[in-house]
Amino acid sequence: MSIDVNPLSGSLGAEIRGLDLADVDPAEFAAIQSAFLEHHVLAFRDQKLTPEQQIAFGRRWGELSIHPIVPHLDGHPEIVPITNSGKKRSLTEIWHSDVSFDPTPPKASGLLVVEVPPFGGDTLFANQHLAYDRLSGGMKAMLSGLRAIHSGAGLGAAMGKAETWREHGQVHPVVRTHPETGRPALYVNPGFTVAFEDMTIAESKPLLDLLHAAGHAPDVCYRHRWQPGDLVMWDNRSVQHHAVHDHGDAIRTMHRITIIGDAPR
Ligand code: SIN
Repeated sequence: MSIDVNPLSGSLGAEIRGLDLADVDPAEFAAIQSAFLEHHVLAFRDQKLTPEQQIAFGRRWGELSIHPIVPHLDGHPEIVPITNSGKKRSLTEIWHSDVSFDPTPPKASGLLVVEVPPFGGDTLFANQHLAYDRLSGGMKAMLSGLRAIHSGAGLGAAMGKAETWREHGQVHPVVRTHPETGRPALYVNPGFTVAFEDMTIAESKPLLDLLHAAGHAPDVCYRHRWQPGDLVMWDNRSVQHHAVHDHGDAIRTMHRITIIGDAPR
């Protein structure tokens, strides 16, 4: 079965048209999985999914996770509603990989448009395989075996659930190997990575800053302009993302699901 997959940038991202995700046969689903591993971000156009249908589609990818901190949609704990709470209170306008402070962070996320703003509100995605590949051999050797602490304490505090990052931090490798493709990817992000293991925050900052700059270089990024009916799935094992809050007070509502992944190695 072939599906129509069109790349959206030279670095990552592809668009798929002509599929109803509420009615995908096994061959089409296998083609979707293969496109996902190749392009890391898939934008499915013209969907009309109810919350139940979004959840059912997500379950075909694996077990859905329930966010440990952020409130869920009434009646649907698998869905996190993302609404415009104002630029100052935005939790997603920072580069991150979803819930990387978890021992087994989500392998994939799926964001369904409920309402798009008349302008702005795009989402940026960055390919962490490419970011790693472009580092020098010397830097790659230095990063080998290095581990970093990821924490949800900042997110918890923003949600009124203050915790200390040392109590709740999770240690992951700085370079992870994609469990399905075997490709190495940078796995530190400004949203949740606080320090390298056994180093202070101040000692860690210069190298973390350098890795963040490499991880978000313009030529490893794709910027998604949302259209009504979009559902975008991305691979948290190879991609970071960043919401752009440039739509003022305009309504922007999304429904997010996440699929449980494995411990980064
Ligand atoms: C997210 O960070 O999971 C949501 C991104 C967005 O709203 O664009």
